[in-house]
Amino acid sequence: MVGAGPIGLAIAWRCAARGLRVVVHDPAPGSGASAVAAGMLSPVAEAYFGERQLTGLLLASAARWPAFADELTEASGVELGYRTEGTLLVGLTADDLAEARRLWAYQQGLGLPVTPLRPTELRDREPALAPRVRGGALASTDHQVDPRLLVPALRTAAQRAGAVLAPQAVRSLSDVDARVTVVAAGCGAAALTGLPVRPVKGQILRLRAPGGAAPGFRHVIRGYADGEQVYLVPRADGEVVLGATVEERSDTTVTAGAVLRLLRAGVDLLPELAEYDLVETVAGLRPGTPDNAPILGPLPARPDVLAATGHHRHGIVLTPITADLIADLVTTGVADPLLTPFHPGRFAAAGPDPTNAAGRLAGPGAADVGAPDRTTEEDLWS
Ligand code: GLY
Repeated sequence: MVGAGPIGLAIAWRCAARGLRVVVHDPAPGSGASAVAAGMLSPVAEAYFGERQLTGLLLASAARWPAFADELTEASGVELGYRTEGTLLVGLTADDLAEARRLWAYQQGLGLPVTPLRPTELRDREPALAPRVRGGALASTDHQVDPRLLVPALRTAAQRAGAVLAPQAVRSLSDVDARVTVVAAGCGAAALTGLPVRPVKGQILRLRAPGGAAPGFRHVIRGYADGEQVYLVPRADGEVVLGATVEERSDTTVTAGAVLRLLRAGVDLLPELAEYDLVETVAGLRPGTPDNAPILGPLPARPDVLAATGHHRHGIVLTPITADLIADLVTTGVADPLLTPFHPGRFAAAGPDPTNAAGRLAGPGAADVGAPDRTTEEDLWS
């Protein structure tokens, strides 16, 4: 196994629990995209136009989350901050609401549970929302978990099941001596496998409610605010995660402009945030792919090497299903049909991806990844 983020650790846990001998190589476990991630489990709100197969996988994985969370807490003794209050989708201005409604109509057309709310219903649910917020909807089945609790939980569960963590960086597949090698190295998979995985930068903020109080709202809030898209994720301990930019860049610099835009959009939606402590500004690199979907399965030229990477914006929600399907594949050698659309070979006909970061990577963690900067444009997204 190469990579000890949530995906690699969950696969390691599942494989070790089935009696396989598992070694997980990573010099800095949990230091990639998951260290920055907000932890939204949002298959409904993140059902985007043109991504039906990905949406199906997101829904299937989110459905596994309640049992996965229970089993993991039982195996590790760690509470994951799994919360089920649901997600509010809101639009600040009439233009924002019109844009949001277009997506909600698409999601409803797929049969997904997006329930429009009248402004009074919205405020009954979250009185802290700004009076200016024009309208919204409820995605009651979109939940959340805390990735900073998930990683230690998975690490403990994997180790208790017998997996061994090895701190050596893997620079080439020939460094690994195993019957099957699983590459779950986020952006680092590009250099190891040649797959078209590229870093997609996200800047994100963490705030804290004053005086040790819980945040003044309970739902995850995903909002359009004057053309910007942001999300606000409240934790029981007072933390609020406010994100995130989506930038075609490979650096992890935090910029004043991004912080300004995130805070402005966040405070426009929830004015009380202006009184919160700003405790962290950070950037991470999502492992993006040409079709925004993960890459899962054997490399065409190396059937003994399984990719489990490219989870882009969905690594946390896709952790349970990725772990189950890849562990099944390792154990039985038979690929579940759910894996078919996500096979590594799907990019072969297209030739090399011009945005691929392959060739500049040094180690398996997303944070180690380097690639040429291409775009200076920042794009707030959720
Ligand atoms: N899944 C949230 C993000 O990528 O920003």
